[in-house]
This record gives sequence, C-alpha cells and structure tokens, in this order.
Amino acid sequence: MLRDTPTTIYLKDYQPPEYLIDQVELSFELGETETRVRSTLHIRENPASEQASGTLFLHGEQLELVSLLLDGKPLESDEYQLDDEGLTIYKIPAQCLLESEVRILPQNNTALEGLYKSGGMFCTQCEAEGFRKITWFLDRPDVMSRFTTTITADRQRYPVLLSNGNPVNHTELAEGRHQITWQDPFPKPAYLFALVAGDLRSIEDSHTTPSGREVALKIYVEPENIEKCDHAMASLKHAMRWDEQCYGREYDLDIYMIVAVNDFNMGAMENKGLNIFNSKYVLASPETATDRDFQGIESVIAHEYFHNWTGNRITCRDWFQLSLKEGLTVFRDQEFSADMGSRGVKRIEDVRLLRAHQFAEDASPMAHPVRPDSYMEINNFYTVTVYEKGAEVVRMQANLLGRDLYRKATDLYFERFDGQAVTTDDFVQCMADASGRDFSQFKRWYSQAGTPELNISSAYDAGQQTYTLTIEQHCPATPGQADKAPFLIPLAMGLLDSDGHEMPLTLADETDAVAGTRMLEVSERRQPFIFTDIKEQPVPALLRGFSAPVKVHYGYGDEELMFLMANEQDGFCRWDAAQTLAQRILLARVESPEAEVPAGFIAAFENALADTGSDKALLCEVLTLPSEGYLGDQMKEVDVEGIHRSRESLKKRLALALKARFLKVYRENSLEGPYVPDAASISRRSLKNLALSYLMQLEDADVEQLCIDQFNAGDNMTDVLSALSLMADRESSAGEQLLEQFYQQWQNDPLVMDKWFTLQALSKRPDTLDRVKALMRHPAFSIANPNKVRALIGAFCSANATGFHAADGSGYQFLGDRVLELDGLNPQVASRMVRIMARWQRYDSQRQQMMKAQLERILKTEGVSRDVFEIASKSLEQ
Ligand code: PHE
Ligand code: ZN
Repeated sequence: MLRDTPTTIYLKDYQPPEYLIDQVELSFELGETETRVRSTLHIRENPASEQASGTLFLHGEQLELVSLLLDGKPLESDEYQLDDEGLTIYKIPAQCLLESEVRILPQNNTALEGLYKSGGMFCTQCEAEGFRKITWFLDRPDVMSRFTTTITADRQRYPVLLSNGNPVNHTELAEGRHQITWQDPFPKPAYLFALVAGDLRSIEDSHTTPSGREVALKIYVEPENIEKCDHAMASLKHAMRWDEQCYGREYDLDIYMIVAVNDFNMGAMENKGLNIFNSKYVLASPETATDRDFQGIESVIAHEYFHNWTGNRITCRDWFQLSLKEGLTVFRDQEFSADMGSRGVKRIEDVRLLRAHQFAEDASPMAHPVRPDSYMEINNFYTVTVYEKGAEVVRMQANLLGRDLYRKATDLYFERFDGQAVTTDDFVQCMADASGRDFSQFKRWYSQAGTPELNISSAYDAGQQTYTLTIEQHCPATPGQADKAPFLIPLAMGLLDSDGHEMPLTLADETDAVAGTRMLEVSERRQPFIFTDIKEQPVPALLRGFSAPVKVHYGYGDEELMFLMANEQDGFCRWDAAQTLAQRILLARVESPEAEVPAGFIAAFENALADTGSDKALLCEVLTLPSEGYLGDQMKEVDVEGIHRSRESLKKRLALALKARFLKVYRENSLEGPYVPDAASISRRSLKNLALSYLMQLEDADVEQLCIDQFNAGDNMTDVLSALSLMADRESSAGEQLLEQFYQQWQNDPLVMDKWFTLQALSKRPDTLDRVKALMRHPAFSIANPNKVRALIGAFCSANATGFHAADGSGYQFLGDRVLELDGLNPQVASRMVRIMARWQRYDSQRQQMMKAQLERILKTEGVSRDVFEIASKSLEQ
C-alpha cells in the first residue's frame, strides 16, 4: 500500500546485478495457520558488475523474520536492516551462504501473488515480482539460479506436492505429514518458481521427442474435474510436435505438469516444468465449454508450452524486455493456431482484437512502446501492446526475412542466447545477422508508441501506362513522444484489373514483373511507388494479410470495396473491404438514422450468404458487423446510443431483407451427431448462430421458438449459450425462465456460472446495472475470484457500452465503487478495471466530467495501491 507517490523505474537506469545467486535451497512447511519458508542462498559477487559495494539488498515483502544466518552465524541487529521492500545486509563477503527462515500467511493472501490458497490447495504466482512475497531474494529476471525445493505438508489434505523440475525424494513423516523434494537442473529467474500442494487428481500421457527423450505429461485438477482434461492434453501434444517441426525446439525435462486453479489473476503461467493455469484454460467438455473455449484452451496451452524456449531457456534481462518473451510467444501461438484450424480466420480474429484493443490503447493516455521505457508497477504492463503488438512486430520480421531466413535467425537466437537473460535488441540482432539486413530503422517499432497511419493516394497515367501509389506515413503523438521518426513498414499489396485478376507488377527501377503480392518497404515520410506497364486503371489491394500494425487510409469508392469483396484473393483484404463498407454505412446512420442502406451492400450480403462453396468460417467474419466499440473509435466523439441504434437497426434491416436466406443458412448448418470441436463443425455452428442472431432482430414469434428449441435441444454449450444470450436481451418471461433453468442445471460448475453472469451483464435490457448489482449478492458470485469479477463487473463495464455509459453516470459510479472495493483485495484486478475509464476523453463533456470525477476520487483515496495509482494518475494527465 502506498506511502508516498510511487517511484518510476526507467530502462535507462538498468545496471547488472552486483551479486548473483547460483543456487538456492528452499524448504516449505505448509500449515493451516501459517507457512514457514527456509532458504539457503549461494551468493557470490557478479564478475560482470563494475562496483561490488559490499552491501546486498534482497527483495522481500510481507515476510516475518524468524532467523537469519550469514555463513552459519546469526546476524546481529546492526548488521542488517529490514523495511517494507526488503532486507539490506551491510557487509557481505564476495562469496557466502545466507540462510533465512520466514513466516508467511498464504491463507490471507487475496492479491493472488506469491504463495496463496485457491480453494483447498496451495499454489504460487511469481511473475513478475511475486517471489519476494515468499522469501528474500534478488527478484529480478537477470539473476538465474538452480532451485531445489522441499515441501512438507499434511498427507491427507495435500497428497500431491509439486514444484519445478524432477522429483528426487519422498518421505513419510510423523503426525500424518509427508515431504517431497524437487530439483530443477535448469537455472531460472525466481519469477519461474512454482509450488502446488493439494488433493488433486491427474491424467497422464507421454510424448517422445525427436531425440528420443520420453516426457511424462500430467494435468492436475480437483477431483470433480478429472473428466474435463482431455482437450488440454491433446492440445499440449499438438503444441510439442509443432514446436519440434517449426522451430526445432524440443522439451528438456522428464516431466511436464499443468495444474488448473480456480483463483488466478491472468490466463496461465509458464513456470518451468510446472505450468499453473486459470481453470478456464484447461477444463472443457462439450456440455460446458463453447467452441471459443476449446480454441482458447488450445492456444493458451500452446502459449505456455512455447515459453519453455521463448521465456524460460532464454529469458528477459529486465521487465522492460517483457515483449522479448511475450510478443514472440504470442506470434508462435498464433501461427500454431493458424496451422491447427483456419489460417485466414485466425488472422482476421487477431486483427480484430488488435484493432479493438491495442489501437485503442495506443490512442489512450496509457499508450506505451512495445518496449516501454518506464513504469511504476510492472504488473500494469502486461498489455495488448506488449503482447499483441509485440507479436505483430515479430511477424513483420518473419515476413521481411521469409520462411527460411526467419528459421535461420531463430536457430541463431536459441544457440546464441540459451541460458541467458537478454533484450529485444539481442533478438533483432539475430534477424540482422542471419539475413545480412540492417534493422536499425525497424527497431523503432520497439521504442516508439502509437499506431502509424498511412495516407495513400493513387494516380493512373493512361498515356505512360504507369500507376503511382504515393504513401505518406505519420504517427500521432503519445505521452512523452511528441514527434516520431518514420517507421520501416512492410506493405503487402497487389493490383487487380477490371476482371478481378492480379496484375503483374514491375516497379520503375526493375526489369522483371512479379505476379502476385508485392511487399513494398515504406521507410520515408512520403514515398511514391511507380508501377510500369499498367494497362488499365487498377483497384489496389492494400495491406494484404495485415502485413503491418498500421491504419491505412485510401479513398476507395463503395463500388471498389464491393469489387474487392467479390474478387480479392487475400482473405484479410476481402474481410476488411466488407468491414470498411459496413463501417461507412453504420457511421452514416449514426448521423442520420434514416439514411438508406445502399442496395449494393444488401446484395453483397445476399451473394455471400448464397455462395455455399465459400469458406464458412471466413463468411462468418465477413457477415459480422464491426463492433460498437470499434465504431466508437472511428468517431471524433463516441456517440454510445447512436452507435448502438445504428448497428441494431442495420442488423434488423438486413434480417428483414434476407430473412429467407438466413433461415436457409440456419437450417443447412444445423449439425447432427455428436459434438466435435473441429474447424469445419465450429464454422458451421458459428454461421448458424450468426444467422440466428440476425433473425432474432425481427422479434418474430417463430424465430423466437427456434431459439428456445435450440436452447432446449442443445447438447453443446456453443448452441445453448448462443440461444440463451439472445433470449437474455429480451424483457420477456421466456428469457427469465431460460436463465433460471440454466442456473438450476449448472449452479455447481463455476466456469459455466461465469458465462451465466456475463450473459446477464451484457444484456441490452435497460435494467441491467440493477441486475448486475443484485447478482453481486448472488451466492455463486465472489468478489475475491478474478474470473467472477471479470465475468460480471468487467463484462458490464467494458462490453456493455449503453449500460456502462448511461447518461446519469450510474455506470461510472458503480465502477468507481468496485475499483476501491477490489483494490483492498487484489490490486492487479482493480487496476485492470480502472483502465476502462482511461479513455474518458473520447466521450462528450458531461460523461468526461463524470469519469474524471471517479478517477479523481480513486486517486484521493488513502492507501490506494501502486497499480491503481499509476493507471488513474496517467489517465488524468493531459
Ligand atoms: N506470463 C504469463 C503468460 O503470458 C502471463 C502472466 C503474467 C501470468 C503475470 C501471471 C502473472 O503466459
Ligand atoms: Zn506469455
């Protein structure tokens, strides 16, 4: 909790550690009222550090000292000093052993950082700086140690005792206790430490690596969930094989363990050999998990597995380098998912997420570079910028190099830096060295925040048969960065002739035409590209595959967009053309609600629906209108009500015009037989449920019956939930009844209850905030459980725009109250909530005042956490 204004940490102040800890032995005595942690640290001076001052500072928070010995001798009270942040030892020898014992209280730990209890089990979360709540340590990622961990606990309550590495010893003790020791042969930073103790069941499988190592794979869950682990296990095996084939990386320990816990701040954690997961990303059955859940599990399981190389074997020098592991690992998991399912759709989903959240972050007071240069609280920097934009930045490098050179570059990276803690510059250097290219301009992607914008204009010269694209780039100012230097932007493009065929392209200084996609490298503020031998006025297809995380402005006519929708071969561009067109229509209808929908747009929808041969998953993406949030981002000032009305009425207009088509699509895509979450079935279910959502705009009794029947018949959560959420929007007793029925059936399944909460939080009914407040008192709700908070409070405040932004400010008041309530329990969760208000400038002045008032109220509250303080104060800075 806060004493003064939190200090800001700067990248430019980085210093290597003065001391290293080569080895550490930990011993945990787990108890019901307290836990004792004994540690032995093998410390030595860091030969790479310039000044060893003789004074050692070890991080440590909320630790109660029991004993402290230096080289076997108890330390006198004038030989060390303890404060809220750690332990200072004044005269430390160049090499020594420090033994300590501390008392900690995991059962009171509601922040879910360090050692805590989730249900009946003990577990840990140490990234980024949670290890210091377990014992004194150099809790920074460039200090890598070999860990040996002994756990002692009651045998009956905690039959399973886990830590990193391999088990080496198990002993039965007196009084019903037992003890087990784990040894991790790989040096690692403390943030990768993990411990689990509980009454858990596991499923087991095995994987043989190309070099012949047999790896035992285990997934541990609470007994009632043992039937829900198969999909996670299958995903793990796919991920292991994929990393062997695509990156030549194999697993390095004899055992790989995953544990699912119900109380977790994030998605999952890549602790060496012992991943700890939010149960949301492990547990699945057709009855309880949606298609999205199945896909989410596959990708998070893969993500954490991939970290074993990109994060664990090679880790970050300091937390400013977070994207070194996260951007790269997200890129890897994206490509894995693309290979497992539909590549084109995966790309569109990723772009959707990036545009909706990362572009918004880049345009907010919280904008920061992929490699930030300062922070107050590192937990605030696990952002879409570090993760998703970071992944785009790696993707651009992969695309600039091409497949083989990129593989050569990553091979070099693994060889050069294995076992080290490095920087994003080190990563880029491998790209440069493997390809012989200069990446100095490219590196601005890491250091400059903001979303670059490309203004593109074209000119066709029929006489000369040349076509010129003139590209201007600029990047809006972001906090602390008024002016930006130009980026190196790979712009993949093509030109289509009037038949929709790809034109062969020759740039003015070239001799040979290249058919198909060209990658233009835009490096200047203003740069013309002249194509020769162009026989007719083309339609340009720009940013194919979304080749760079930028905004493209090009003055397409509506006809050209429809032409691209019909003819362009790149799935992303086709989808983007449809989105741009829909966006135009939607925004026009915000201004004048009665504006006609162009007949061509309805016809394009109709053609798309009629094309039975097309990729159904891509079709779904094309038929999904831009979200309310994204539309708001395109306006000077967000008109919450207007956007909502416009989008709903366009959906209704389409449903009216195309009712028969939608019904046909609905019927044709209903599946018989048992549920399978494969790409083909998933896309049919999405299309069917998308059709239903259009049809439900009609307020037609037959359609409503169709929806109710789907709910009742559903053997899978995807169909049930789609139907239920459509019914939950209605102010009808039928909707109420289904919600109650659903509750009765699933009240004992926490993950399904999360869905039940979210559905009600997102309801378009006018009384939703009152319902949300009432649901907070529901026995299935708990303010201490992050999943519940996100499902109910988070969903309402971040995804129910009309409810949250109600003109009377009730939504803002509600969020302000919840932030303060949560901050006392779990600052990380509170700080994610306060972020929702960081974009107050985007609204009208009344809403601005009300949001600002809440932020100011939060800031003025005594004892507010560093996490919340940083977001609230930066949000108010102009
Ligand atoms: N490192 C985790 C991941 O991306 C995320 C995480 C961060 C989890 C901090 C917990 C705490 O896979
Ligand atoms: Zn990660």
